[in-house]
Amino acid sequence: MRQKPALVLLTTLLLTLAAGIAAGNWKTLRNDQLHDPSNPSLRVLQDPEEALALLPPDTAGNMVNWVTALQRGIISPRSSLREDREHEILDDDVLMLDTMPLPYVRFPHRPHSEWMGCETCHEKLFVSVAGANAINMGKILDGQYCGVCHGAVAFPLTECNRCHNTDSSTVSGARPGGTLP
Ligand code: HEC
Ligand code: HEC
Ligand code: HEC
Repeated sequence: MRQKPALVLLTTLLLTLAAGIAAGNWKTLRNDQLHDPSNPSLRVLQDPEEALALLPPDTAGNMVNWVTALQRGIISPRSSLREDREHEILDDDVLMLDTMPLPYVRFPHRPHSEWMGCETCHEKLFVSVAGANAINMGKILDGQYCGVCHGAVAFPLTECNRCHNTDSSTVSGARPGGTLP
């Protein structure tokens, strides 16, 4: 039996949409505009979807919620290149108040120190004293401070609300222009 063209079109559209959602947003290595599709060695490399589709989904960056993956024990990254280093986890937040009209930034030590050793950040990227680093958004966008990783290997800087995550009206005694450990 012949189907009505409009119905066929609609079904095709819906199937395409569903496939798009299910597949995350990963480009294959052949069409990512980074790899040379004519290189025969491409066959030995794994396409991102094959590995990343197994991990908890996210809505930005490479579409994986890495902190959830870590917390569920699905991945266990090495915290340091040096095997002999004791891995310390720090469970506190630093509240950064110099955010103009945006919500404050609550920097969480726990997920960061679960990923990497203290020496990744201290004392070169950040002096380990609350408020002692002259961080601002311009420098971050320029690849300094948080921008050394965010936008490069951790979630992108377009995700403002993941860092600007604390409504200032919920924090009493906080004074803009300061930092609280
Ligand atoms: C990776 C974390 C992160 C992301 C993502 C992020 N910010 Fe920031 N932002 C900061 C930090 C840290 C500060 C400095 C806070 C302090 O020193 O008290 C800051 C400061 C600011 C300030 C204050 C003025 C200035 O120049 O420093 C503004 C405005 C701002 N961010 C806007 C944004 C907007 C808009 C976005 C999204 C497009 C964004 N931020 C994304 C971490 C982030
Ligand atoms: C991803 C980077 C990063 C890692 C990893 C990290 N820190 Fe920090 N640390 C920061 C930032 C950012 C601040 C806030 C600096 C500011 O306010 O200017 C800070 C502040 C501190 C402070 C002063 C404020 C407070 O919380 O008392 C101490 C102490 C500290 N860190 C210790 C540690 C230790 C110990 C570890 C390892 C277990 C560690 N940090 C891992 C980025 C990091
Ligand atoms: C040395 C690398 C590095 C630096 C520097 C760094 N981060 Fe991160 N951050 C990470 C990684 C890796 C993750 C986990 C992967 C992800 O979420 O993309 C993460 C995750 C986060 C999260 C999400 C935590 C959660 O529970 O989901 C926040 C919020 C955050 N960072 C804020 C900041 C802010 C604010 C700064 C600067 C003051 C900063 N980070 C500096 C590497 C870094």
